[in-house]
Amino acid sequence: MSSTTSDGMFSWLPGVQKPLIVSAPMLGASNGTLAAEVSKAGGLGIVPLGMDFTPGGAGLKTMASELATARRVLGPSAPLGAGFLTFHGSVGRFAESAIPMLREHNVTVAWLFAPDRDAENAGAAPHAEIIAALHGAGIKAMVQVGSVAAAREAAREGADVIVAQGTDAGGHQFACGAGVVSLVPEVRDMLDEEFAGRGIGLVAAGGIADERGVAAALVLGKRAANQRALRSAVACADVKWIGADAAVMGTRFLASEESTAGGHYRKAILEGKDGGQLTVKSTFHDDIRQTVVWPQLYDGRAIINKSYEEHVSGVTFEENRKKYQEAVSSGDGTRLVTWSGTALGLVKEVLPAGEIVRKVREGARQRIQKVQSGL
Ligand SMILES: Cc1cc2nc3c(=O)[nH]c(=O)nc-3n(C[C@H](O)[C@H](O)[C@H](O)COP(=O)(O)O)c2cc1C
Repeated sequence: MSSTTSDGMFSWLPGVQKPLIVSAPMLGASNGTLAAEVSKAGGLGIVPLGMDFTPGGAGLKTMASELATARRVLGPSAPLGAGFLTFHGSVGRFAESAIPMLREHNVTVAWLFAPDRDAENAGAAPHAEIIAALHGAGIKAMVQVGSVAAAREAAREGADVIVAQGTDAGGHQFACGAGVVSLVPEVRDMLDEEFAGRGIGLVAAGGIADERGVAAALVLGKRAANQRALRSAVACADVKWIGADAAVMGTRFLASEESTAGGHYRKAILEGKDGGQLTVKSTFHDDIRQTVVWPQLYDGRAIINKSYEEHVSGVTFEENRKKYQEAVSSGDGTRLVTWSGTALGLVKEVLPAGEIVRKVREGARQRIQKVQSGL
């Protein structure tokens, strides 16, 4: 049986169970119901996704309705997160437009990702004002980053949790990044050395799709060598986890019953294998869709489709774009942009989101216990 985190790390998330599993906010693929089922199972569900902070705008209205749905499932006080992309020109209005909505739905923690560093006034602390506004409203801040420098910056800005996102991740990420196996321990060391005593949580994201990935992420710290710490961590006593404190999964939840990923999308995830070959990290996926314009710092990982293959083989962008538009209007899925992490080969069945959380959490606990007893 899992123990809860009423004390120690994540004490501000009452009722969540260790090891903590977090569902990523996934624009177009997750929703309030999925997030609520994750939280209901003792994880932390993050509702997607605010991006345009113009007061009264359509984006925040949709988010408010997803938060209301989540609260109907969860009740008024269980832990719940809300995810935001922070590169939009209207981000300066976050406090005015997003905070009242977060308060209304009693959101516990806001997930922030992808500030535009080239934007006027972004400077070296692009999230500082937002985090101060969140803290003023009694809401915690978790910031997703893809480098040690960005993790340090987020910690300086006041982040309560750092999500260290490795390059195996599905969807958008730092164009210049590292895998979880090197990123998480380096961020852990940095936090221990430079921010000791702040109790900043560290969460691993990217390529984690089952209990093996979660267990590995949890022991990616120096203290793994320390028998006592490891034993305490396994027993879920009141100590910090020794590598990451928790794990995020995105791609795994694309194959949950609650995900809004369509039939073609889900089939591609379930049938996909060998993700390093099948997916690619590129800015081309956004270019061909011409929807949201992401800042230069980021690209995205998606399944290689016909458009990408033709791009590589030299088809002009104009011709490629025309074919993409034709495919979209005729319902031809072969050119769909299907964001996915490299771990899709580990995703083999569709399950309710709550069952995914329980299965992965218990599997990770057992795995760590087995390894520890054999040390
Ligand atoms: C379909 C999809 C959509 C995503 N959308 C977002 C998003 O809107 N905001 C965000 O911060 N991260 C987004 N991500 C990235 C996740 O936050 C997370 O880093 C990633 O899913 C972790 O890697 P994994 O997919 O291998 O589990 C998305 C990922 C996927 C797969």
